[in-house]
Amino acid sequence: MISFIKNLALEAGRLCLEGQKNLSLHDLEFKSEKDIVTETDKKVEAFLVKAILARYPDHGVLGEEYGAVQTKSGLRWIIDPIDGTTSFVHRLPFYSISIALEKEGEPVLGVVYAPALNQLFYAEKGKGAFVGDTAIHVSETRELDKAVMATGFACLRAGRQKNNLPIFNEIVPKLRDIRRFGSAALDLCYTALGSLDGFWEMNLNIYDIAAGTVILKEAGGVVTDFTGGGQFPEKGIAAANKALHNELVRILTGFHVL
Ligand code: IPD
Ligand code: CA
Ligand code: CA
Ligand code: CA
Repeated sequence: MISFIKNLALEAGRLCLEGQKNLSLHDLEFKSEKDIVTETDKKVEAFLVKAILARYPDHGVLGEEYGAVQTKSGLRWIIDPIDGTTSFVHRLPFYSISIALEKEGEPVLGVVYAPALNQLFYAEKGKGAFVGDTAIHVSETRELDKAVMATGFACLRAGRQKNNLPIFNEIVPKLRDIRRFGSAALDLCYTALGSLDGFWEMNLNIYDIAAGTVILKEAGGVVTDFTGGGQFPEKGIAAANKALHNELVRILTGFHVL
C-alpha cells in the first residue's frame, strides 16, 4: 500500500512542477483572504482521489479542495494536494503533497513529498519514519535556547483570531531561532528529521497535519494540542521532541487562546 501511495505522490509532484510553469502571480484565485487555490491544487487532488478510489473503492476520502467521499469501511484517505500553496505560487521550494490513511479515526500511514526539494517523507504506524531510504529521528535538543522551531500564521486569515502573534513574541526570544517555511506538513517532517526541534500553530485543518503527525510520532516525537491533550488541530497543534514538548505546552497553555 505505501509503495503505491509514494508513487502517486511522486507523480503528483511532477504535476506540481509542470503546473508551476504557467503560473502568474497576477491571476490568482482566493478561497478566502490569503488562502490561494490554483488549478494545480485542484488537478493534483482530482488525480490522487481518482487513483486511490480506483484501487480502494470502499475507502473514503477527505481532501482540502473537493471535500469528502464517505465510507463505511472505517478507512479514509486525508489529502492536501498542495500544502503551502503560497510558497508554490511564489516559486519557493517549501510546499508539499500530503497524503494520510486514517483507520477508525486514527492516522496510521503518512506520505509527504516536497517536489522542489525531492524529499519524500513517509511512515506507517509501528514501522518507523523515513526520508527517501534513510530512517529519521527527532533531535536530542533539551534546552529552548538551543532549539530552532517553526510556526505559521493561519490565524491571520480572514475570520480567524489574530492570536499567534503574542505567542510568537513570547516564544521566539527563548529560542535559538524561528523558521516559517509555509507548509505545516513539512514543519512536522523537519521536526521528525531533527532539523527542527519543534513546531506549533493554530487554526490548521486535519489535512494539513494528518500525514506529518504519523511521520513525527514514528520518528519519536510528541504531538498534542496546545494543552497537551489529543484534540489537535482543533485546539492547536504542539509538536516537538520528547525533551522539549512539555516546555512548549507549558508556554502555550499559559495563553488560553483556544
Ligand atoms: C497552509 C500551510 C501553512 C499554514 C496555513 C495552511 P495550504 O496550507 O500549511 O503552513 O500556516 O495555515 O493553510 O492552505 O497552503 O494548503
Ligand atoms: Ca489552502
Ligand atoms: Ca494545507
Ligand atoms: Ca492545500
